Amino acid sequence: MARKSRRNNEENHDRPPFDPAFADLSRLVVSWYRENRRRLPWREEVSPYRTLVSEIMLQQTRVEAVKPFFDRFLSAFPDVRSLADADDERLMKLWEGLGYYSRARNLKKCAREVVDRFGGSIPSSIPDLLSLPGIGAYTAGAVAAFAYGKPVAAVDGNVLRVTARITAEPGDVLSPAVRGKLTAFTSSLVPEDAPGDFGQGLIELGALICLPNRPPKCDVCPVRSLCRARAAGCEGTLPVRGKKPERKLDRRTVLLIRSGTRTLLHKRQARGLLAGLWEFPNYAGGFTEKEALDAVRALGFDPIRLRPLEPARHLFTHIEWQMTGYLVLVAEPDSPPPDGFVMPETDDLLSRYAIPSAFSAFVRALTAPLP
Ligand code: ADE
Repeated sequence: MARKSRRNNEENHDRPPFDPAFADLSRLVVSWYRENRRRLPWREEVSPYRTLVSEIMLQQTRVEAVKPFFDRFLSAFPDVRSLADADDERLMKLWEGLGYYSRARNLKKCAREVVDRFGGSIPSSIPDLLSLPGIGAYTAGAVAAFAYGKPVAAVDGNVLRVTARITAEPGDVLSPAVRGKLTAFTSSLVPEDAPGDFGQGLIELGALICLPNRPPKCDVCPVRSLCRARAAGCEGTLPVRGKKPERKLDRRTVLLIRSGTRTLLHKRQARGLLAGLWEFPNYAGGFTEKEALDAVRALGFDPIRLRPLEPARHLFTHIEWQMTGYLVLVAEPDSPPPDGFVMPETDDLLSRYAIPSAFSAFVRALTAPLP
């Protein structure tokens, strides 16, 4: 498999040295990928826009979870211009359940800049891609290699794991130094004639063979003959990963304030966690029934009946919410909800308002019979 020469490779002018011990690696990865790859929507029909959207969705999210979102998103926003003009509420509703909502907001900002600065065509050069909102080194590499066929590396967590094992890297893959080293290693191997299949091949190896948190399936691995971890018998203990900081525990109380079939929702502030999304009113701390009723009155409602709900838990990257919930029936309000609040009918609430999955257990409680 041809490795692009340094002289005419403007994308890779600082291409790292090539280790001849791995001369066969890209050929093995590419041919294995072509035979064994999963048929995924963004692979069956490839365009820079489809690659960009899928790669943003796939950050921190499993392939199986992304598939239905990807198809729905592409039907709603089939191209960069439609995304640049997207209605924010509709965009957030379509992203509901995928999590990490700033990805959606950045994707729209990115589409806007592509329209304003690049005439609606997603750029192909790494510096131009990196200049766009929400595009980091991995996504830039993925768009350039998978959609434009540029000979560049796209190194995500999967690729770090695979290459840490292939090279028997003893350092912490989360450290910038090791990440840089493995990125350089991957870049040195990108084949000129199949950069996309090589990049996705490494990801696919990580997903199907060189598994995370489980012993790799070395017996069926196409690169087992080159793998240094396997030769040294340390494939089960690599990659080395520094300890992640523990999640901060945050106790909250969530109130489902209902009048007839209408329920109170609040729009979260424009910055920070779950920015701009809709939520049930919620408060720091685990409230007693009396405290919950006081909070309902403080919002200007007249409680009739209260029912405790099943506690719920939600894990964010750095925080764990432990939620106490109450369903509180209130008298028909004689004035509209306070600023920043709405009180939609259940159907409307479910179809129009983007409510993050942190509140899923309480959304389910809404459709349960009234007390
Ligand atoms: N994870 C990140 N990018 C991916 C891709 N293109 N295919 C499958 N899984 C991925």
